[in-house]
Amino acid sequence: MRIGVLCSGGDSPGMNACVRAVVRSAVLAGHEVVGFRRGYAGVLDGELYLSVAGEQQMTLSTVADIVDHGGTILHSSRCEEFRSAEGLKRAAAHLRELDVEALVPIGGDGTLRGAVELADHWDGRIVGCPGTIDNDLLGTDYTIGFHTAVDTAVDAVDKLRDTAESHERLFLVEVMGRHSGFIALYTALATGAEVACLPETSTDPAAIAGRLQRVQQRGRKSVIVVVAEGDELGNADVLIEKLNEVGCPFEKRTVRLGHIQRGGSPVPADRILGSRLGELAVRSILGGATGVMAGVVNHGDVLTPLVETFAGHHPVPQDLIDLLERLAG
Ligand code: F6P
Repeated sequence: MRIGVLCSGGDSPGMNACVRAVVRSAVLAGHEVVGFRRGYAGVLDGELYLSVAGEQQMTLSTVADIVDHGGTILHSSRCEEFRSAEGLKRAAAHLRELDVEALVPIGGDGTLRGAVELADHWDGRIVGCPGTIDNDLLGTDYTIGFHTAVDTAVDAVDKLRDTAESHERLFLVEVMGRHSGFIALYTALATGAEVACLPETSTDPAAIAGRLQRVQQRGRKSVIVVVAEGDELGNADVLIEKLNEVGCPFEKRTVRLGHIQRGGSPVPADRILGSRLGELAVRSILGGATGVMAGVVNHGDVLTPLVETFAGHHPVPQDLIDLLERLAG
């Protein structure tokens, strides 16, 4: 069987580990793998990843020594054209021309949505892998890249705490998460942040200002407020304006961590998750599965219909929200 693999949407650390696992498990089982460059754009254009020797087929040596590399050797993109009926037909025609019988798209909700749309025009098997730092997909406890993004954000906030302490300031730190507070919540818990603003909870500037007064009265000299970019009130710029309106006892600065969270060498948890899900995707394809995403739930392998993975947002655990509230006082 000839299996295609691609990375699409926002890249995430651990995608390379996943690509490596797809290639190694397929090749070692006697199958062929081709990689599409720049996600679905590569399928549209029929643009394959070529080895240094110029070969189209991905081999064990193509994916040697990439398990620890951030980004993706296949490159990624967000491809609007792919979503049109015309684009989907062209992509399906290229897959047929290239004799690709199965596809492993690695990415977030947009990628998996694209896979569902492609299935209307192409009858190959599709098993997706959840590659996004946001951890917002259903059907897996964690997405590939989430743990590294949290690690990066925690490292940054620890450093900001030092300067916040020296200058007795408040730092509003905006982290990624378009629809999800996972990165913000985990970062806040791991750094002992005083406040976290998440899309899943209501953000009340007056209540935050009240808490900050109490924090200051207790003698705290610095404050960290972690804000998810997708907070329902708005991003860090909006929140700082609102805090100015209601009155905030600390001198304030804003830091947007941005795309730094998507880069860097993946932490072991993401290397292992990427490896595990890449292998599971291939094993599932060879077993006849299609239209599903490979995930890990409660330490076990799980296949979830693609449409269910983006039907809602993975809820942040209420017990962790409560824990943050209790510890922040
Ligand atoms: O991949 C998810 C994500 O990192 C979101 O958290 C963020 O809103 C978005 O991608 C940014 O995307 P872009 O790379 O297009 O700026």
